[in-house]
Amino acid sequence: MQTNLRGRSLISDLDFSKEEVETVLDLAWDLKMKRAMGLPHAYLRDKTLGMLFFFSSTRTRCSFESGMAQLGGHAAFIDSKVTQISHGDTEKEIGAILGRYFDGIAIRHCTWAVGNRYLNLVHETSRAPVLNMQCDDYHPHQCLADLMTIMEKKGRDLCHKKMVVSWAYAETYRKPNSVANSLILQMPRFGLDITLAHPPEFKLKPEMIDEGKALAKKYGGSFEMTDNMEEAFKDADIVYAKSWGPMLTTSNDEEGAAITKKYSSWIADERKMALAKPDAIYMHPLPAERNVEVTDGVIDGPHSVVFDQAENRLHAQKAVMALTMC
Ligand code: CP
Repeated sequence: MQTNLRGRSLISDLDFSKEEVETVLDLAWDLKMKRAMGLPHAYLRDKTLGMLFFFSSTRTRCSFESGMAQLGGHAAFIDSKVTQISHGDTEKEIGAILGRYFDGIAIRHCTWAVGNRYLNLVHETSRAPVLNMQCDDYHPHQCLADLMTIMEKKGRDLCHKKMVVSWAYAETYRKPNSVANSLILQMPRFGLDITLAHPPEFKLKPEMIDEGKALAKKYGGSFEMTDNMEEAFKDADIVYAKSWGPMLTTSNDEEGAAITKKYSSWIADERKMALAKPDAIYMHPLPAERNVEVTDGVIDGPHSVVFDQAENRLHAQKAVMALTMC
């Protein structure tokens, strides 16, 4: 152990140093092994986690809830709609009061320009750590599971492995860009060569790009950008292609949908995957829009690691909870 994370919140990916992330991963692998062996690991007996959701979830809810139970504690699912938030409970009340009931407060709030601010305001008044289950800016627990999965498939030394973080077409709603942000901030610290690909209207926040580039320089990797999906996939070791919304271009849903329609060719398909290295892995946080964002052949094919990635949410989050809530 190189670190003490007790009482610490995880809201942005960079809230934990690189060494602290390595500690999280070490513990995550230990917990994964203990679960495989059926060994008890009740590090959070009698502890409770309040999980406040402003947005739907499958993996995040289930993995946090199951993880707390496996650690000997209890997780309470709280749908924001059945709280008094709409009748006056502010971030201050949520932090001050839930922080006294619970040993950790986990929140998912993805509303653009609202979610991250909400989590930080709760953090200001909470005695207990605040864990980000996805906001408009970051999805740090997803990113920890992604990093864990990449290391399992490619080894712990990731220096100069080429990772493509690509936008992909989707037809339903304006998805948050938090996964892409988290990837371009966390992965450069592990020496990966990042290629960020998106159509011009799907840019990420300039301050995120600048920070990702600075981290790539600091840790000896590279950071390139392109608006050509095929070009990005060439010789990639890791392909991470998912949709996000054109929030920085327009706040108008109709205009956003019209822009998105122009890019239906941005699908992760077999032809593009063939441009990557033969042993490249395909990643997606799920849910994916099948045969829109990614073909069945790719997501169910030999390159895909999406179920290992989803499983690792459980182990990575258990490690964060055990370290911050003990
Ligand atoms: N990847 C992810 O966060 O999944 P859910 O939206 O189902 O929680």
